[in-house]
Amino acid sequence: MSANLSAIAYLVASILFIMALRGLSSPETARNGNIFGVSGMVIAIATTLASPGVLSYELILVGMTIGAGIGTIIARKIEMTALPQLVAAFHSLVGLAAVFVASAAFHNPAAYGIGSFQNIPVPSLIEMSLGTAIGALTFTGSIIAFGKLQGIMSGAPIVFPKQHALNAVLGILLIVLVVMICRDQSVTLYWAIVALSLILGILIIIPIGGADMPVVISMLNSYSGWAACGIGFTLSNPALIIVGALVGSSGAILSYIMCKGMNRSFISVILGGFGGETAATADTMGERSVRNGSAEDAAFIMKNAANVIIVPGYGMAVAQAQHALREMADMLKAQNINVRYAIHPVAGRMPGHMNVLLAEANVPYDEVLELDEINRDFPSTDVAFVIGANDVTNPAAKTDPSSAIYGMPILDVERAATVLFIKRSLASGYAGVDNELFFRDNTMMLFADAKKMCEDIVKALE
Ligand code: TAP
Repeated sequence: MSANLSAIAYLVASILFIMALRGLSSPETARNGNIFGVSGMVIAIATTLASPGVLSYELILVGMTIGAGIGTIIARKIEMTALPQLVAAFHSLVGLAAVFVASAAFHNPAAYGIGSFQNIPVPSLIEMSLGTAIGALTFTGSIIAFGKLQGIMSGAPIVFPKQHALNAVLGILLIVLVVMICRDQSVTLYWAIVALSLILGILIIIPIGGADMPVVISMLNSYSGWAACGIGFTLSNPALIIVGALVGSSGAILSYIMCKGMNRSFISVILGGFGGETAATADTMGERSVRNGSAEDAAFIMKNAANVIIVPGYGMAVAQAQHALREMADMLKAQNINVRYAIHPVAGRMPGHMNVLLAEANVPYDEVLELDEINRDFPSTDVAFVIGANDVTNPAAKTDPSSAIYGMPILDVERAATVLFIKRSLASGYAGVDNELFFRDNTMMLFADAKKMCEDIVKALE
C-alpha cells in the first residue's frame, strides 16, 4: 500500500475512533459507537498489515489468533462488577507493548528508519525513552491496581514515612536518566530507565486506596495513551499518534470528571491514603434507633404512591439486583404508578456503572434520568427507593464542612415524603461517612441483600 493511501486509511480510522467516543457517551448511541470503534480498528489493522515493512504474516496470524481467542473468552465470562480490574489488566498490556516496541527500536533503530545502533537522532531518543518510561510505569501500576481490585492484595492504602519525597526523588532521577541517555546512548542507561519506571509504577499506586482505583485506572488509561502516542512517533505511525493522544486526553478528562463528581482534587487522589477497605460503622452513631421495615411494608407503601423514584448505588451492582428491580418497577407501573430512576454521576464504582446495569436489565432509557434532570422532583415524590446507595444521598455533603464528601452534589432523596433504604446494615459507604438520613422520621430501613429484598417485594406486590 502506498504511503499516501495508508495515511488516508489511518485518517479514516482515526475519525471512526472519534465517532466511537462520541457514540459511547450515551446508552442510546453506545451500540453504534462500538460499531464505529470496531470498524476503525479493522481499517487500522488492515492498513498496518498491508504496509511494506511486514516481515512475517504467519507470526502475526498466530499472535492475533491467540490474542483474539483470549479476548473473546474473557469478554464472554467477565462480570459487570469486575470491569474496572479487567480494564486495569488490559492497560498493563498496553504499557508492556510500549516498552517492547521502544526497546526493539532502541536496539535495532535501522529497522525503524531512525538511524543506527547508538546513533539515534535525539528527538527519536526522547520519544523512545518517554514511551518506555510511561509504558513501564503503566505496566506495574496497572498490575497493582488490578491486584487491589481483584482482592489479590489488600485494597487499603500502603503508606510509609517520606513516601512522597521518595517518589519525587525517583521521578527527578528518571528525568535525569532521560537527559543522560540523549547524550550517551548506553544500553545500561536504557534498562536503568525501564527498571526505575517499573519501581515508580508500584510506588505511585500502593498508597492509593482500593476504592479510589477507578480514578487511578482512568489515569493509567491516560498514561497508556500517551505511551502509545510516543511510540507512534518512533514508528512514524500517524494512527498510533492520533489514537494515543485521544486515549491520553479522554482518560485525563474522565479522571477529572470523576474527581469533580466526588468533589475531590486530583492531587488528593494521587497522594492517596483515602478510601481503604474498611469504612466507618454505625458504632459512631450511638444508640439511636431506626425504623425497620419488611418487604410487605415496602410493597404497601409503594402500592399507595403515585410517584416513585428509584436511586441505585454500588450495593445494587454487588447484589446484581437490577433484573429483580426492573420486575418490581414493571409491577408498580402496571398499577399506574409513575416510576423513574435517578442516577448520580459517581454512583457505583465506575462511570456509567448504573446506566450499564439498568440497560442490561432492559430498563427503558427515558425512565433513567441524571441528577440535574430529576433532583428538583423529589419534593413532589411520594417514595424515594434507595437501593444499595449511600454516599450519593448523604446530606452531610451539604451540611458538614468537615465531612470527606462536603461539596459533592447529592440526590435530594430526603425531600421525598418517604425514603426507603435497602442495605444490609447501618454501615457507611465508600467514603466512610455516616448517613444521618437512616434516622429520619420519614425513612424506613429495609435491611437485606438488595436482590433478595427486591424479589420479596415482587412477591408481596403479587
Ligand atoms: P456507597 O456510598 O459506596 O454505598 C453503597 C452501599 O451499598 C453501602 O453502604 C452498603 O451498605 C450497600 N451494599 C453493599 N452490598 C450490598 C448488597 N449486597 N445489598 C444491599 N446493599 C448493599 O455507594 P454509592 O452511593 O453508589 O456511592 C458511590 C461512592 O463511590 C461515592 O462515594 C463515590 O464518590 C465513590 N466512587 C465512585 C466512582 C464512580 S466513577 N462511580 C469512582 C470512585 C469512587 P451495607 O454494607 O450496609 O449493605
